[in-house]
Amino acid sequence: MLLEGKKALVFGVVNERSIAYGIAKALKAHGAHLALSYAAEPIKKRIEPIAEELGADFILQCNVSDDAEIASAAERVRREWGLVDVLVHSIAYANREDLRGRFIDTSREGFGLALDVSAFSLVALCRAFEGLFSPGASVMAMSYYGSGKVVANYNAMGVAKAALEACVRYLAVDLGARGVRVNCISPGPVKTLAASAISGFSSILETIEQRAPLKRNITPDDVGGCALYLASNLSSAVTGATIFVDSGYNIMGV
Ligand SMILES: NC(=O)c1ccc[n+]([C@@H]2O[C@H](COP(=O)([O-])OP(=O)(O)OC[C@H]3O[C@@H](n4cnc5c(N)ncnc54)[C@H](O)[C@@H]3O)[C@@H](O)[C@H]2O)c1
Repeated sequence: MLLEGKKALVFGVVNERSIAYGIAKALKAHGAHLALSYAAEPIKKRIEPIAEELGADFILQCNVSDDAEIASAAERVRREWGLVDVLVHSIAYANREDLRGRFIDTSREGFGLALDVSAFSLVALCRAFEGLFSPGASVMAMSYYGSGKVVANYNAMGVAKAALEACVRYLAVDLGARGVRVNCISPGPVKTLAASAISGFSSILETIEQRAPLKRNITPDDVGGCALYLASNLSSAVTGATIFVDSGYNIMGV
């Protein structure tokens, strides 16, 4: 048991296909107490049975674009647990029209929305929870290969992921003084609700099977293994990093 008694707050489970679900399962299997956060009231009904299945201590609503909801989430966690050992940010959003066609056509509003929900929210959460992080706490966020390379149709989300990875490095410095670590996992493509918004997503999955060193796509459980490592003391000197969980696809050239 790597996380016996640790308290892990997971943002981003919407169903059993969510990457955050694979992460929550892995953390729970190693003894962590869980709390799940969902974006809005209509999602609550979907989350309740999942929270029950995973034996979560509680669930809470938090739209990460709303500072008041973030503040009340932090207050709830303070009341329920006092401190937090693990915070998982597995959240992204962009308008559908900004996940197809030419990047040059991204609207100012769509660009701002993608960056706010998918990148700035990590900064806002870290600030709100700063006083609740236990010494040695671990924060992690989900990036994607499209942060550093051009992936067809990923567009505004690629820029948001580049920002997210940079946020992780700056946050790693700010929070490092208190021994808190901040890292990114960069999973390969997984067929989830969020991924279904990306035009041509199935062809990306086929490319991975053909070209990745491991010749297979990854699963949320693969990401869960890496998250467990980052959440635990095994990664005690790892911060500001982006770790690929992508069957090795990122190393391939022509
Ligand atoms: N699926 C993939 O191929 C893939 C690959 C690499 C990285 N990722 C990243 O993994 C993370 C999780 O995505 P997923 O693929 O598991 O999809 P998902 O749809 O299961 O999860 C996305 C989550 O973001 C939440 N969310 C969106 N807007 C929000 C808001 N304003 N406030 C709070 N929560 C909000 C949704 O409710 C949902 O729970 C995202 O950061 C995504 O970019 C996904």
